[in-house]
Amino acid sequence: MSALADRVIQCCREIARMSEEPGRTTRTFLSPPMREVHKLLAAWMRNLGMRVRVDAAGNLRGLHGNSTAPRLIIGSHLDTVPEAGAFDGVLGVVLGLALIEANPTISIEVIGFSEEEGVRFVKPFLGSRAFVGDTEWRTSEIDSALRDFGLDPAELPEVRFVKETVGYLEFHIEQGPVLENLNLPLGIVEAIAGQSRFVLYFEGRANHAGTTPMSLRTDALVAASRWICEVDRYARARPGLVATVGSVQVSPNATNVIPGRVRASLDVRHADDNARRGAVRDLLVTDHELVLDQNAVKMDRALTAELAAAAPNARRMTSGAGHDAMIVAPHIPSAMLFLRSPGGISHHPDEFVLSEDVDAALEAGAAFLKRMESKYV
Ligand code: GLV
Ligand code: MN
Ligand code: MN
Repeated sequence: MSALADRVIQCCREIARMSEEPGRTTRTFLSPPMREVHKLLAAWMRNLGMRVRVDAAGNLRGLHGNSTAPRLIIGSHLDTVPEAGAFDGVLGVVLGLALIEANPTISIEVIGFSEEEGVRFVKPFLGSRAFVGDTEWRTSEIDSALRDFGLDPAELPEVRFVKETVGYLEFHIEQGPVLENLNLPLGIVEAIAGQSRFVLYFEGRANHAGTTPMSLRTDALVAASRWICEVDRYARARPGLVATVGSVQVSPNATNVIPGRVRASLDVRHADDNARRGAVRDLLVTDHELVLDQNAVKMDRALTAELAAAAPNARRMTSGAGHDAMIVAPHIPSAMLFLRSPGGISHHPDEFVLSEDVDAALEAGAAFLKRMESKYV
C-alpha cells in the first residue's frame, strides 16, 4: 500500500471519531462535530496552499490553483447517517485532497458538502443543491440552524458554482456488492437511480391497553405494520425496484397505550423513472408529505469517457445510492468513480475500503487529472 493511501484511510477513520454520539459515528448537517471536521480538513488544505472557506450552506471549499482558470470540482459529503461507517462521503473529499498533494497544474476546487443524507431536516442534498443555485429547501428552522453555525442565509446565492467550472468528479464507495462479486477494485457510474421519499401518517385511536377489547381498537401501529409488509412484498415482486420503510415514530409510544398515531418514512428507488412513479402511486395509502422526488440522472458521456480512459479496468454500472453527483450532473458535466465495498456493507459501522483499492482510485484520479490538464491547461 502507498503511504498516501494509508493516510487517506487514517484520515477517514480520524474523521469518523468526530461524532455527535459517543462510540458511534453520527454527524448531521451543521452539528458541532462538523466544525471539527472542517478544522482538520481546512488545515490539510492550507498546508497544500489552497484557499479555504466555509460557504453559506456550510460546505467546506478549498481552491487549488488560479481562481479565474477553468476549474474542476472534486467533491462528496461530510455528513453521515446515524451509526455510520467511516467512508461514505468522507472518502470522496479526502481522496480529492490526496490528489492535490501532487500539485496538479489544473485548478481544482475540493468540496466537502454539508448535507447529503437528509438526516437532520429530513430533506437530503442541501449542500449540493445550494451549490447548483437551488435553495428551495429553506425553512425558518434551517435558516436558524445556519445562523447558529455562524453562517448568513442571505449569502446563499453566493454558494453557486462559478462560470469557470468545467467538470465535477466524485469518488465514492460503491455501497453494494457488485464490484466485490466481479473481483474488481473500481467502477464507473453511468447513471444514478431515481428516488422518491415520503413521510406517511397512520391515524388510529389511542386508548387503554388493558381495558379496550381487541375488537374495539383502532391501532395505528398494526395498520402501519401491515403496510410495511406490503411495501416489502410489492418491491420483491418487481425487478429493479427497492422500497424501504426505515424510520417509524409511534405516539404516544408507551407499553400500556394502544398506538394512536404512526409517522413512517418511505424510500422508493428504480433506475426507470416510470417504474418508480408507478410504485409510488401504489404504495401511498394514507396522508403523506413528499420529501424528495428525484429522477434518475445520467453522468456526462464525454467526462465519463475520460474517466474510463484513466481507469480502463473499471466496470461501468448504475448507482442505486443517491450522491451529490446526482444534483450536480444536470448543471455541470459530471463523472463518478466507485471503489469496491467489501461485503457490500454501507450505512453501517463495518463499512470499509481496501487500501489497494484506494491506491487504484488515486492512480485513476491522477491519470484523469492529466487528461483534464491536457484539455484545459
Ligand atoms: C444516500 O446515502 C442515499 O440514501 O442514497
Ligand atoms: Mn450515505
Ligand atoms: Mn454517500
